[in-house]
Amino acid sequence: MAARIIDGKAVAATVRERVAREVASHEAEAGRAPALATVIVGDDPASEIYVRNKHRACAEVGMRSVHHGLPAETTENELLELVAELGLHDDVDGILVQLPLPERIDPDRVLAAIDPGKDVDGLTPANAGLLAHGTPGLVPCTPAGAMELLRHEGVELEGAEAVVVGRSKLVGVPVARLLLAADATVTVCHSRSRDLAAVCRRADVLVAAVGVPRLLGADAVKPGAVVIDVGMNRTDDGLCGDVDFDAAVEVAAAITPVPGGVGPMTIAMLLVNTLKAARSRV
Ligand code: GUN
Repeated sequence: MAARIIDGKAVAATVRERVAREVASHEAEAGRAPALATVIVGDDPASEIYVRNKHRACAEVGMRSVHHGLPAETTENELLELVAELGLHDDVDGILVQLPLPERIDPDRVLAAIDPGKDVDGLTPANAGLLAHGTPGLVPCTPAGAMELLRHEGVELEGAEAVVVGRSKLVGVPVARLLLAADATVTVCHSRSRDLAAVCRRADVLVAAVGVPRLLGADAVKPGAVVIDVGMNRTDDGLCGDVDFDAAVEVAAAITPVPGGVGPMTIAMLLVNTLKAARSRV
């Protein structure tokens, strides 16, 4: 029997409706709506689209947002200055520096300069440390979105075998930490892992976040597993995930499509984080 398709758009819409209600009550209490500041350096077209969508999503839930588009020749110091300024700005609750940055700029230095209380991407060393410590502050949006989908699907994580493919700071590592915090038994695989399919086949919950189109086929999926595909790969025949959907859908119990699975959750969780950051500043 083919797997249940996890509808990320629908779950994201539910999260956004909840945030909109909470934004309204926050505004009534605090006297102003939460505000997100975004920063792009250069003119990467994909970044422009992502950030435009983030601003649209803010407006839809009643949040304010301000964009800082900096020229490609901006120096690291100029960017650090802006990030520091936004950290001190009373009217800014969340700061998001869109990645990738131009090669000359060290993303780790820039992320480390973001006020952790305004780090709505959850990517500062301070928030990564809190997550590693088991006392999460602001959690990265895509991992938080993946967890929200699992919660929404009613997936029992306690004692479950979870396998995460990918060890990035943006997704793989934080999602592994969140699964561990939910009492799953967690294995993290990466490009050097031996016999990837065999390890993946142990998973009750398989999270693919590696950025290789259709890397994981039916042989990597345990019958009845829940598959969360974070991959978003542009190929000649369109967008696809890290999982071979057509093959995996015949084996899994539930699976996220690409697009329409984890993708819509990322922006929804950014809104959740921005509201959380605003609340914690009152
Ligand atoms: N570029 C691609 N995904 C992301 C993200 O989640 N946050 C930021 N800041 N940049 C990104």
